[in-house]
Amino acid sequence: MWTQESLGQLIREKMQDYLFVVVSNREPYSHIFNKGRVECHRGIGGVASALDPVMQVCHGTWVAQASGDADYKVVDKMGRVKVPPEKPFYTLKRVWLSKEEENGYYFGFSNEALWPLCHMAFQRPVFRKNDWEYYKIVNEKFSKAILDEIGDRKAFVWIQDYQLCLLPKFLKERAPNQLIIAHFWHIPWLGYESFRICPQKKEILEGLLASDLLGFHLRYHCDNFVDTVDREIESKIDRERFSIIRAEHETIIRPYPISVDFEGIHSTASLEEVEKIRQLFVQEFDLSGRRVLLGIDRLDYTKGIPERLKAIDFMFNQYPELKEKVVFLQIGQPTRLHIPIYKSLNDEINTLVEEINWKYSTRDWKPVIFSRHYVSLKEAEALYRLADVCIVSSLHDGMNLVAKEYISSCPDEKGMLVLSQFAGAAKELTDAVLVNPFDLEQFSKSIVSALIMPEEDRRKRMDKMKEIVRQNNIFRWAGKILSELLKLEFKE
Ligand code: G6P
Repeated sequence: MWTQESLGQLIREKMQDYLFVVVSNREPYSHIFNKGRVECHRGIGGVASALDPVMQVCHGTWVAQASGDADYKVVDKMGRVKVPPEKPFYTLKRVWLSKEEENGYYFGFSNEALWPLCHMAFQRPVFRKNDWEYYKIVNEKFSKAILDEIGDRKAFVWIQDYQLCLLPKFLKERAPNQLIIAHFWHIPWLGYESFRICPQKKEILEGLLASDLLGFHLRYHCDNFVDTVDREIESKIDRERFSIIRAEHETIIRPYPISVDFEGIHSTASLEEVEKIRQLFVQEFDLSGRRVLLGIDRLDYTKGIPERLKAIDFMFNQYPELKEKVVFLQIGQPTRLHIPIYKSLNDEINTLVEEINWKYSTRDWKPVIFSRHYVSLKEAEALYRLADVCIVSSLHDGMNLVAKEYISSCPDEKGMLVLSQFAGAAKELTDAVLVNPFDLEQFSKSIVSALIMPEEDRRKRMDKMKEIVRQNNIFRWAGKILSELLKLEFKE
């Protein structure tokens, strides 16, 4: 089994002569002013939280966009700060973007074009020429920041996600013999039929194919990518090696399902400190004596939150005996709020919550509690431990790490996962109660069946899922990718 130690050993033995650089848009930690004091928050979303324990043993440099209002306060002249603050293990190098750059690259091309393009959530992508120009400028900016950091050394560079498609190409053009590059695509890759509408499709494919290794969560995403390349640009597909050769450069394509640090989460979740936080939540949300359904998500339209609320509404309507006994607690972490669809999603959620509460509330009970705020990992663990059922109802999701964090945190005596069949995690967690979030009735009945599942069945299913996440943990994900990367040789 891969552990933090075995991953650390691999890095120490095989990577010691080289620099190790991870690159992502979202930073793992941001520094924020709060009442005049600087606080450090962990970055939201799966990518930042999953890679942090990996970087803690790799001791390399993580390059990412600065996002906190106090970020500039804590860095050195090169924009660097050691993190995590309580036990600094690695270097975070921040890249500052102007408002125009952030608008065009992040809100625009990344999140109004590529994000809806790659998630089948029926939201039309918007391709603006101006956004694309900024996307290129910012990808260049990242490449300069990385090359400044590397100097004339050799380095393994591991790039994350759809915000940085062009980075492999920019890096390889400038330092062809110095770098070995992996790129991991954290969101789904749909079929050619969807991708072909993108006006910049060729540049995106060329950018990604400058990597030496390109990873996706599922074999299905890999197949879709290879098919897209086959139909879109001149290249040779080697089906035996499962690679793509273009202009004498080979890119190996592989599936690696991302995960979480099972042992780390499992052990901290049962700490006294987390138990205290759990009790505070029980008081704050008045959960004592009730069964709790929980959702924790970024407030993103791909997560299926309105569908979930409608299923809860249907459930109280069809099973009135659950009134006053069950509470649905939804924690929403605000995200990408400058994009109109995210604003209207917030309004839609507010309206649905109000409607349900108006319909069913009694003097001492409210069926839905919606709390819009940032939660730390320990707070998330406390919430997972108080939930009888966790609901993950993504309309489409590359993996979904809330599902795996929940499985890792749950105490033995309770817990069941209701999981969308359209989240990548459903391929591994087949013992969850799988739902189609578009099928209101089936979804709603499945929530009830998770709530009333006989104890023996529940425990068996949860034990199986725990074992899967324990084995297929984040260190295995990183270890497999880095082992493959280490087989590649620097060009002379
Ligand atoms: C998803 C994406 C990540 C992104 C995260 C949070 O997990 O795959 O690349 O960082 O969401 O989104 P945000 O836009 O807030 O960074």
